[in-house]
Amino acid sequence: MPVVPMKDILDRALAERYGVGAFNIINDLTIEAVLAAAVEENAPVILQTSVKTVKQYGRRQLYDIFRTLVADVPVPVTLHLDHCPDRTVISDCLAGGWNSVLFDAHELDVAENLRQTAEVVAEARMTGAHVEGEIEGIQGVEDDIGSDEASKIQSLEISIDFVKNSGVDCFAPAIGNAHGQYKQAPVLDAQRVSDLVEATGIPMALHGGTGLSDDQFRDLIARGCAKVNISTALKEAYLKPSLEFLRETEQKNKWDPPSLFRHQRTAIMEMARQHIRLFGASGRAW
Ligand code: 13P
Repeated sequence: MPVVPMKDILDRALAERYGVGAFNIINDLTIEAVLAAAVEENAPVILQTSVKTVKQYGRRQLYDIFRTLVADVPVPVTLHLDHCPDRTVISDCLAGGWNSVLFDAHELDVAENLRQTAEVVAEARMTGAHVEGEIEGIQGVEDDIGSDEASKIQSLEISIDFVKNSGVDCFAPAIGNAHGQYKQAPVLDAQRVSDLVEATGIPMALHGGTGLSDDQFRDLIARGCAKVNISTALKEAYLKPSLEFLRETEQKNKWDPPSLFRHQRTAIMEMARQHIRLFGASGRAW
């Protein structure tokens, strides 16, 4: 059963007010480590890929790796394409088996974004896939996408109208969150999440998860952020302990790649496990 539609994961999480970690995986090692943490926690999990990762591997190879690694996993897993402004890549991933896509057309005006997002929703439905929508940029550049400039915030009315008329299954509001490490503690407009969830009934995606406080996570999840995106924390968990490990390796002059991979796997598993527990997703697999 392991691969399930995104909507199955998010609607349950919204109803029971827990959050599902959406981890930006980069390769086989990170996929396997995040899945292992989800299995240990008996939690549903979202694996998401940036456009950069899709292009680096090629869509088919990346999907084949995902399918192979997920084959014996007993918890619900779904595969999502993160921020993608490119309709060709969206169509390619939908045709190639992704369960969900974020069509990130915030650079278009809202009317054109709505028109195209509705088309993406119709296209996704043909393969049983789901769509996350976005009308404001989330600050910060991640995997070559985005901007460090703060984006224009749309009114609540415009956001609600976009959700209702596009048919998206999940929505990514800008609430003062940003990709990457925060330079200072962010002041978040949590009420906007409550207002959007109340008016639309759909789950919100919390972007910029890395660096938020435990209280911020708990509050936003309680308000309806059922999808919680974590990317920078995974990259740091992957590489920072590796640096230390490689320095020791250099001192010993004993070069054994599998030892490094085990070290990295442990660090990524621990990072994922901590987030899964904090988000209240442990024990929620079905
Ligand atoms: P962080 O890199 O801040 O964890 O944000 C992840 C994200 O929102 C991916 O879309």
